[in-house]
Amino acid sequence: MTTTTQTPDLVADSVRVILDGQAASGAYVASPNFSQYRFGWLRDGAFVALAMDAADRHDSARAFHEWVRRVLETQSGRIERVLEAVTAGREPAPEDRLPTRYTLDGAEEPEADEAWPNFQLDGYGTWLFALNAHLNGALPPEFEPSVRSAARYIAATWRLPCYDYWEEFGDRVHTSTLAALAAGLRSAAELLAENEWLDAADDIVAFIRSECVADGSFVKGPEDARVDASLVSLATPFGVIPSTDPVMAATIERIRTELSSPSGGIRRYLGDSYFGGNPWLLLTAWLGWHDRLTGNAAGAQRAREWVLAHRSEGNNLAEQILDEPQVPEAVAEWTERWGPVADPLLWSHAKLILLERGGVRTWS
Ligand code: BGC
Repeated sequence: MTTTTQTPDLVADSVRVILDGQAASGAYVASPNFSQYRFGWLRDGAFVALAMDAADRHDSARAFHEWVRRVLETQSGRIERVLEAVTAGREPAPEDRLPTRYTLDGAEEPEADEAWPNFQLDGYGTWLFALNAHLNGALPPEFEPSVRSAARYIAATWRLPCYDYWEEFGDRVHTSTLAALAAGLRSAAELLAENEWLDAADDIVAFIRSECVADGSFVKGPEDARVDASLVSLATPFGVIPSTDPVMAATIERIRTELSSPSGGIRRYLGDSYFGGNPWLLLTAWLGWHDRLTGNAAGAQRAREWVLAHRSEGNNLAEQILDEPQVPEAVAEWTERWGPVADPLLWSHAKLILLERGGVRTWS
């Protein structure tokens, strides 16, 4: 367990923002004051829980995991219907596929005018991974049904096209999503002490290696040869590809060169137009976290300085800065549509904590 504290105040500030955004149910709100983000996402929340464990706030992480455990118990009927469909060689019904986010009470969100692209798989894998890091392999019996449900769901669905990390391109499979699913199955194997989950995990990693590489680097997916900053996750934290692997190293270098803004922040991918497609605080911190874990102290320091220089009022961390857009006119378009950019965003704070602390254990 790595517990070196470089700057306690930064961690303390971020812990405060995260605790303010944790509901009594245990759910972490994605952002407390952005109209579209007042829900609990499995992806964001699982990274926040990892960070809270790294900050020694195991109580908060535990409350989140208990929330997901209860949510999954309520979803068991849908999971069984999805499994039945896949076993029979049918497409699972859209209404049976699990959503990426729930209300803070753990319910499904009400039908909105603007329906959310909710079918995303990665959060279920990331949750298993974060739970395993939290429990360190020792599963309390009450978690067993939810861990098993999540593992069965992932093993049955990983080949299905779904929306990606950025809630886009719902007709494709995505490398970063697949990495989260492989990591989740490996975590389930450890938690349940059942090796059978490793077969599906190995199939996913083999698919990533054979279908998700172009010109010597991992790419967004089999149909998209761009790099995406979320590909850092293959090594940090998921460790499904070792950071020393030459293809992984080439991917990191492509992210660092192609996705770096003039000021040194990291963008999601080239061509992104959401709020202009600026650099994101959490992605800059994420690359810095990877640099720290792989011994690139200068890279980690650069990332840290960039994030600190782009804090907003009250030492909050937003989703993205707005002054280095790839598509300048899209900043105003999105602001008119949904209001000012999310600030604070809880998983931006999570990534800063992980950069500061290094994580709860070494993954790659
Ligand atoms: C991001 C997602 C994130 C969600 C909530 C979206 O805009 O693309 O990755 O889970 O916001 O923070």
